[in-house]
Amino acid sequence: MKRLAELGRKARSEVAAAGDPDALRELELRYLGRRGELTLILRSLGDLSPEERPAAGQQSNQLRRELTELIGARAQEMRALPESKSEATDRLDVTLPGTLPSPGRAHPLMRVWQEVEDIFLGMGFDVVEGNEIETDYFNFEALNVPRDHPARDMQDSFYVSRDIVLRTQTSPVQIRMMRQMAPKLPVRLVHAGRVFRRDDDITHSPMFHQVEGLLVDRGIGLQHLKGVLLEFARRFYGAETQVRMRPSYFPFTEPSAEVDVTCAWCRGKGCRVCKGTGWVEILGAGMVHPNVLRHGGYDPEQVTGFAFGMGLDRQAQLRFEIDNVRLLFVNDWRLLGQV
Ligand code: DAH
Repeated sequence: MKRLAELGRKARSEVAAAGDPDALRELELRYLGRRGELTLILRSLGDLSPEERPAAGQQSNQLRRELTELIGARAQEMRALPESKSEATDRLDVTLPGTLPSPGRAHPLMRVWQEVEDIFLGMGFDVVEGNEIETDYFNFEALNVPRDHPARDMQDSFYVSRDIVLRTQTSPVQIRMMRQMAPKLPVRLVHAGRVFRRDDDITHSPMFHQVEGLLVDRGIGLQHLKGVLLEFARRFYGAETQVRMRPSYFPFTEPSAEVDVTCAWCRGKGCRVCKGTGWVEILGAGMVHPNVLRHGGYDPEQVTGFAFGMGLDRQAQLRFEIDNVRLLFVNDWRLLGQV
């Protein structure tokens, strides 16, 4: 009886500790097999006295049933967990390529933004801040665009209220900065930022970006405007770049010009990007209108100035040959990976 009890304790703990089906099969053989420890005890029952036999027989049979059940249950447990820890470790293939983290990078527009600012900083311009929400006065009125002016049709606007608007252009910065600086000279600044118009197609996004430039001083003429723009174009698009000015109209400049640069793709030979002309338009510019100088607090009899306004998105498109502006604003990492 003592041997039986001891065998039972040992067998139970070994079954519980068995790590895999093979170990379990071995235990089954060791205790319950033909020459198993328990089997041998059962066979030797005949050697006992007739008084001892029934109790010993009952005990032995009970232990046999219990161990059979325990082993069965443990085997089922193992089947329910097919990937035992040791198997998972065995299957780790250290020769497989790992997952590389993808490093972040600047958005094409932000790269162009920074580069443009750097070029003008290098020419002595200050980089200044502006407001994305403007009053009608700064966005239009002070720029020589009164309420009934037809030029407002070109800048269909998002109004917050009758007098407050999401700025349609970066030009209001001209007025704000002149007022801050007057009567100091020179006023020499650039400002880049978001602007908003009610436009939405493949060449227009309702939110886009402009860079504004302004230089006010004594004796400023168109030649200075052209020189600064030529220098900018050469630094941004390459040393061979030419600049041409075509007469145009803006309410806040007189005279006004639209400015083209030689197409950076075909070097002026004519291609899809420049629609065969060899030139691409990059900005509007002109000599600051006397009314605008007056609104800024300067005397147009004493000083003159030039101004320009450039679409930043357009520079990024030209630079990276992106044909749909809206691609710049959908946050698709495939675009960022290509440029
Ligand atoms: N604000 C104009 C626009 O959005 C661009 C522009 C043209 C700005 C001529 C200027 C300028 O400063 O002189 O269409």
